[in-house]
Amino acid sequence: MEKPTICEIKEIITESPSTKTYILDRKFKFKPGQFAMLWLPGVDEKPFGYSSNKGFTIAKVGRFTEAMHNLKEGDLLGVRGPYGTSFEVLGERILAIAGGIGVVPIITAVEKFSKKGFEITTILGARCREELLFVDRFKRYGNLLPCTDDGSFGYPGFTTDRLEELLRGDSKFDLIITCGPEIMMKKVVDIANRYNIPVQVSLERYMKCGIGICGQCALDGEGLCVCKDGPVFWGDKLRYISEFGRYRRDGSGSRVLI
Ligand SMILES: Cc1cc2nc3c(=O)[nH]c(=O)nc-3n(C[C@H](O)[C@H](O)[C@H](O)COP(=O)(O)OP(=O)(O)OC[C@H]3O[C@@H](n4cnc5c(N)ncnc54)[C@H](O)[C@@H]3O)c2cc1C
Ligand code: FES
Repeated sequence: MEKPTICEIKEIITESPSTKTYILDRKFKFKPGQFAMLWLPGVDEKPFGYSSNKGFTIAKVGRFTEAMHNLKEGDLLGVRGPYGTSFEVLGERILAIAGGIGVVPIITAVEKFSKKGFEITTILGARCREELLFVDRFKRYGNLLPCTDDGSFGYPGFTTDRLEELLRGDSKFDLIITCGPEIMMKKVVDIANRYNIPVQVSLERYMKCGIGICGQCALDGEGLCVCKDGPVFWGDKLRYISEFGRYRRDGSGSRVLI
C-alpha cells in the first residue's frame, strides 16, 4: 500500500460555521470525484474529496473531522491518493446538483468541464445561507441556482424540488451529476430516470483501506466497492446496488438506515 505523503497546512479558510478548507504545501493531481485518504496519527485515516489542487474542505461531523478542525496552520497531516473513479462528460449541457458537503467533488467537476466548453448549470443546496459553499466559484463557471431549506437565500426548499421545476420548464440537459445526502441523490436519480437523462452519483460509505482490500465499503447487491468501483457510479449501475437510498454500514458493519 502507498505510504501517506506528509504535508504541511499552509492556510486554513473558514468557509461556513461547520466547514473549513485546508490549503497544503503541495499541488495535487486528481480527476473530479476522486478522493484521498487523510491521516492524523493517533486519530484515524478517512476519505475526503479534493476541493482544489491545493487541498481539502471538511465539515465537522465526528471524531476525525473535529480533530481536523482543531489543527492549526503549520501542523502536518498524511495524504495518500488519488483513488477511485471520477465524473465523466456526455453531450453539451450538464446539470450539477450539490447538497451540503457534497459540493466538494461537484465544484471541481464544474470548473474542469466549464473550462472544456460544456454549458453548466448548478443547483446548490444547503440548510441555510451561511452553509452555502463556493458560491463565487460556481458563479464564475456557469449558471448557479442556490436553494436553502430555511428559505434564507435563493429558492426556498430542497434541491430536488428546484430540479423538478427546472425540468418541467424549457431547460434541456444531456447529463446530470450529483453529490450530497443519499436521500437527495436517490430522488435525483428517480427524477433523472423519469426524464430519461443519464445521471452519475458520487456515493459515500465508511472506508478503511480506500483501495479495495478490506471490504468495508462493499455494497450489497453485486459487492461493488465504493473506494475502487466508485465513488462515482453511472445511474445504470445503481440497479445492482440494492442498498442505495436505503441503508449504509457503520465501521462495525452494522446497517444504518438512510
Ligand atoms: C469518497 C468520499 C469523499 C468524501 N469527501 C468528503 C469531503 O470532501 N469533505 C467532508 O467533509 N467529508 C467528506 N467525506 C465524508 C467523510 O469521510 C466523513 O465525514 C468522515 O469520515 C467522518 O468522520 P468522523 O470521525 O468525523 O465522524 P464519525 O464519528 O465517523 O461520524 C459522525 C457522523 O457521521 C455519520 N457518518 C460517518 N460516516 C458516514 C458515511 N460514510 N455516510 C454517512 N454518514 C456517515 C455517522 O453516523 C455519525 O452520525 C467523504 C467520504 C467519502 C466516502
Ligand atoms: S475501504 Fe477497504 S475495500 Fe473499500
